[in-house]
Amino acid sequence: MVSRTIPVDTFDLVIFGGTGDLARRKILPGLYRRFVAGQMPEDARIIGAARSDLDDAGFRDMVGDAIAEFMPGQSKTDKTVKQFLSRLHYTAIDARGEAGWSNLAKLVRKDVVSAFYFSVGPGLFGDLASRLQKHGIAQENARIVVEKPFGRDLASAKELNGALAASFEEHQIYRIDHYLGKETVQNLMAVRFANVLFEPLWNAQYIDHVQITVAETVGVGGRGGYYDKSGAMRDMVQNHLMQLLCLTAMEPPARFEPDAVRDEKLKVIRALDPVEADDIVRGQYVADENGPSYVEDAENQDSLTESYIAMKVKLSNWRWNGTPFYLRTGKRLKARMSEIVVHFKETPHSIFDEDAGSHANVLSIRLQPDEGIDLRVTIKEPGPGGMRLVDVPLDMTFADALGPEAEDIPDAYERLIMDVIRGNQTLFMRGDEVEAAWAWTDPIIAAWKARGDRPKPYEPGTTGPEDALMMMHREHRRWREIKA
Ligand code: NDP
Ligand code: BG6
Repeated sequence: MVSRTIPVDTFDLVIFGGTGDLARRKILPGLYRRFVAGQMPEDARIIGAARSDLDDAGFRDMVGDAIAEFMPGQSKTDKTVKQFLSRLHYTAIDARGEAGWSNLAKLVRKDVVSAFYFSVGPGLFGDLASRLQKHGIAQENARIVVEKPFGRDLASAKELNGALAASFEEHQIYRIDHYLGKETVQNLMAVRFANVLFEPLWNAQYIDHVQITVAETVGVGGRGGYYDKSGAMRDMVQNHLMQLLCLTAMEPPARFEPDAVRDEKLKVIRALDPVEADDIVRGQYVADENGPSYVEDAENQDSLTESYIAMKVKLSNWRWNGTPFYLRTGKRLKARMSEIVVHFKETPHSIFDEDAGSHANVLSIRLQPDEGIDLRVTIKEPGPGGMRLVDVPLDMTFADALGPEAEDIPDAYERLIMDVIRGNQTLFMRGDEVEAAWAWTDPIIAAWKARGDRPKPYEPGTTGPEDALMMMHREHRRWREIKA
């Protein structure tokens, strides 16, 4: 297999919030990797913009340190790192005032692709969008990239969409959900729509249920202030798990084009049923010898925010009527593991003895770690002794299948930033999609508030609260094991 780096047009990428955590940890190291891969044209430029009083040299120094910190093995004195740093510029700017804008206007070229990454709090999105227009910096083909959280409910998402729409057209707005940039997430579409094998079976007639799990071992320490106002529902389910659900459940789009894909995802969100209280379990981690409790991390002893959620979700449409989707995500769990698992039904009739047991195919799509796809099929156990059935994996771990190529798989941010430069919105959320997701989420959160719902405590290093196990037990099903 040959790795292909498709060149992009030359560009000016302005990173508002270029001195912040996200820029230092993800965006700039990601751009460096694209530079090393040879994808960055000779005269492409990256311009950091924030209030800090830095010049080009100071910014380059800061980015060099960030590369060294987040990409162990790279030093700012390495030749390639130095070459990359020479592409960087900086201008001090205040999103809320006039300082710095005329300087930025001079820096951004009019004859190349221009992209503006809003890596700042959402409270600044409207200011940045309007000042880019006011100062004539954003050309017709300019793109803006906005980070999550995109609002905290339907009303605030509408307000944000309105603030951006006042200055930019929808085709210029790239709302990031980094889960869409993960390699296996896109592979889900390839598996579904590039193979004849799965699609005929991809419906309630053949699929018993689907489980989507995003388990993390980290807690919320260090970002408790943000997290305590969000919780797992707003931080993970409304966006990342929702996107995974959409790609699993959507109808085949007519073409792999931005609006064709996004139209189908929107239909999935609109087909979601309201969720019954009994079909949701919320949890909060307690302290153990390895770390503090959630309420300590959040610095809020009375917090009712969930660090874990498990829920049963149903879709009212022709394809999925009767097939539940179980979503589960949490912090400080047993292992870091994200996967989408499709449990097929058993055969309608078994021709084998009862002793052979009952068997069903299971397709699992692993996002992390060890990205790959695994299909469990039933075969005869080898050897004499009659017809005994056994389930075996048809495993395609990308690292094994692709060899060294797998190491070159770009990280989600790298891929998404390059898609912005190419002008491809397929892996970005459209405004109506985000609003529809909040319209489904809002009543669930409002119901917890109304009845003073208290999250169930769970021990760190486990799979979450007991109640989540009970929920599945009542359904006569079992959660997948959480393991790295
Ligand atoms: P930080 O607080 O670390 O960085 C904020 C940045 O904004 C800084 O560079 C700051 O620089 C700049 N800034 C603040 N006020 C102004 C202003 N008035 N004018 C111009 N620049 C300003 O935040 P993060 O980097 O963590 O997050 C940025 C965005 O990304 C947020 O929306 C966050 O929710 C989102 N996000 C972050 C993730 C992460 O892992 N960090 C993950 C997913 C989303 P200065 O003080 O110099 O002005
Ligand atoms: C972020 C959430 O969007 O995604 C975090 O705000 C979460 O709480 C993170 O930890 C998970 O991303 P990944 O790529 O590490 O699975």
